[in-house]
Amino acid sequence: MDTERVVIFDTTLRDGEQSPGASLSADGKLELARQLARLNVDVIEAGFPISSLDDFQAVSQIAKEIDGPVICGLARAVEADINRCWEAIKHARKPLIHTFIGTSDIHLKGQLRRSRDDALRMAVAAVRQAKSLCKDVEFSPMDATRTDLRYLCEVIQATIEAGATVINIPDTVGYAMPEKFGQLIREIRDKVPDIQKVRLSVHCHDDLGMAVANSLAAVKNGVQQVECTINGVGERAGNTSLEEVVMALKTRRDYFDAETRVRTEELYSTSRLVSRLMGMPVPANKAVVGANAFAHSSGIHQDGVLKERATFEIMQPEDVGLRESKIVLTARSGRHALKHRLSELGYELSGGQLDKTYRRFLEVADKKKEVFDGDLVAIVEDETTTVPERCKLEYLHTSSGTGTIPTATVRIKIGDQLIQEATCGDGPVDATYKAIDKVIGLPIKLKEYSIQAVTSGAEAMGEVTVRIDDDGGIVIGRAASTYIIEASAKAYINGINKLMARGRVEREGE
Ligand code: KIV
Ligand code: ZN
Repeated sequence: MDTERVVIFDTTLRDGEQSPGASLSADGKLELARQLARLNVDVIEAGFPISSLDDFQAVSQIAKEIDGPVICGLARAVEADINRCWEAIKHARKPLIHTFIGTSDIHLKGQLRRSRDDALRMAVAAVRQAKSLCKDVEFSPMDATRTDLRYLCEVIQATIEAGATVINIPDTVGYAMPEKFGQLIREIRDKVPDIQKVRLSVHCHDDLGMAVANSLAAVKNGVQQVECTINGVGERAGNTSLEEVVMALKTRRDYFDAETRVRTEELYSTSRLVSRLMGMPVPANKAVVGANAFAHSSGIHQDGVLKERATFEIMQPEDVGLRESKIVLTARSGRHALKHRLSELGYELSGGQLDKTYRRFLEVADKKKEVFDGDLVAIVEDETTTVPERCKLEYLHTSSGTGTIPTATVRIKIGDQLIQEATCGDGPVDATYKAIDKVIGLPIKLKEYSIQAVTSGAEAMGEVTVRIDDDGGIVIGRAASTYIIEASAKAYINGINKLMARGRVEREGE
């Protein structure tokens, strides 16, 4: 028997963007779509075009520009949604309309206030309409895992007859258990007469931490497509993590006898990009792409790996794009060595961007003895940000300690003006943010603050991510430094610059 090919349907830009507070800018969406194409996913679900003008424009830009993957848009099973979706994706080389309706009694009674017959008719009409516009149509009976099986099979058969080419089985609320989910897939394959005519897909949520296990159980039971997101981001607890499914299929090919076309060496940089754009740090112990995923700390493990990697490593770091460096970068390393290592890490820099990054690298290397890959990634992401720097931190001094009142003095350059303020706060970061607020003089609210060490050791760089709001929506600010109060100040100012770039906040008189 031939090895099965599993189609990877990425929904980071649609379901992933439904993660609370993770909204992406139009530029960010396009940048991510380009990276997903590099990763070689089969389908990019680019958005939900009727949900907003911004989303419509982002989907149509992606449809026009991105070559390679199928470009998909989401639409409820109503006429206006489907027309709008088609308008957005029609320029794609390979367009796909994905339409859905809730089919469980809980959804029908509790939300849609429709009978089963009504929903069936709406599903069929939606698929017919979509099919009249687009050759490829995917249909999802939402909340399939809590839908009566007989009715579910009836809806699936009817939508296949109406022209669906993909049938997707969503575990919308993350309720399924792997064995039961596998059994459901088998039953659908047995009971729906025309199921062989379509590609069968699954879309799992992670409310009980089962999304990857459920998706893999479905593969084992014959589905040909898995819907997933980078880092498992998505509504509530998130979706199936793309990198985990892809690496499970690759590493346990003996068990699944299935493969994907994903370029796994792009997984790490894609994960970093999603984390940066969405302001959602990746936990250190996250499978496949976490900072500790390939770090061996116990003596016995280190000894084993040094003698024979396979003793404690089932995947190679290089397979996910983590290449071990033979050269350690220090303050004595030249621009060429930095450029070379950055290129190995997937960043091609030249000219002004390389100059800026090199200057910053030297500053960090002066403070730390050795500069690791994690530090380099943080530096390059800081220095290549495309947000115009209307505000720039010129000076920062804080004092704090047991029994002293934390104080901060900041000097910020705004245009040609240098403004200085000092204040005290509950801690050095709080004092710094209050001083920045005084300089900026705008109603900015800090919604979330997180800090992560980029590499290990006391001298590691700290990467700070903040979510700030001016009552017009949340933006993410990010910065890294060996001095964490400075990283905190710069992350806050990075967020303020983003608000200013969007014209959302203006200083008085500007
Ligand atoms: O979780 C879900 O059911 C969805 C559908 C739109 C497929 O996201
Ligand atoms: Zn979903």
